[in-house]
Amino acid sequence: MKSILINASPRRTWNTAQLVREAQKGAESVGAQTEYIDLYDLRFTGCRSCLACKRKDAERCRCYWNDDLPPLIDRIFKADAVILGSPIYLGEPTAQFRALYERLIFCALSYDGGPAYFRGKVNAGLIYTMNCPREFYDSTYVPAFRNTERTFGSFLHGTVQTYAACGTQQVNDYGQYSMGRFNEAERKAHREKQFPLDLEACFRMGAELSRPAE
Ligand SMILES: Cc1cc2nc3c(=O)[nH]c(=O)nc-3n(C[C@H](O)[C@H](O)[C@H](O)COP(=O)(O)O)c2cc1C
Repeated sequence: MKSILINASPRRTWNTAQLVREAQKGAESVGAQTEYIDLYDLRFTGCRSCLACKRKDAERCRCYWNDDLPPLIDRIFKADAVILGSPIYLGEPTAQFRALYERLIFCALSYDGGPAYFRGKVNAGLIYTMNCPREFYDSTYVPAFRNTERTFGSFLHGTVQTYAACGTQQVNDYGQYSMGRFNEAERKAHREKQFPLDLEACFRMGAELSRPAE
């Protein structure tokens, strides 16, 4: 089993990265070979609509735009699981998450009216981290993100799991920033109690999505 773990936060060691690293440990605990990527280290854009992937002579599920993304897209289609972590920025996963999502899914999508081009199966894990409380995530973000989950499921044909870490600690010292909306003591207490549970959940996700089928 091969699992690809992707941190779609620009911060290499913060909340999202820590959870994705834990999912990597989970994947390795069941014997998967893993690859971890900080997505912001790659140079790429969203889909350029070159339509090279839709040419009659194109190799299917291949992105032809020449930047850092096509080799990663190739490896995702060959993997058994891909786990993507993203902070929520203005109610959505990050721009880099979105750019990868556009490129990955579009080159598997058929304009011929037939089924999607990808015939294999890749499990997908989505880890979101955010400032807002769980109640806001449940009422507002869950319905908004459903389409992304469905798309991963219908194009990659695997199991899709989502995990949300809410009320994350955004900075070490709130006193240094104009962030009066947040109560530092409450944030830190929440992190101490909740974040270990978030780590455990992401470890489980990594293991479950990377376990060989019985
Ligand atoms: C540009 C920007 C926009 C943000 N927008 C939201 C938002 O809409 N909702 C939310 O709950 N948190 C929002 N946040 C907070 C982050 O999602 C949260 O702190 C996240 O855990 C950061 O992940 P990281 O520590 O891995 O970088 C935003 C942060 C930034 C920098």
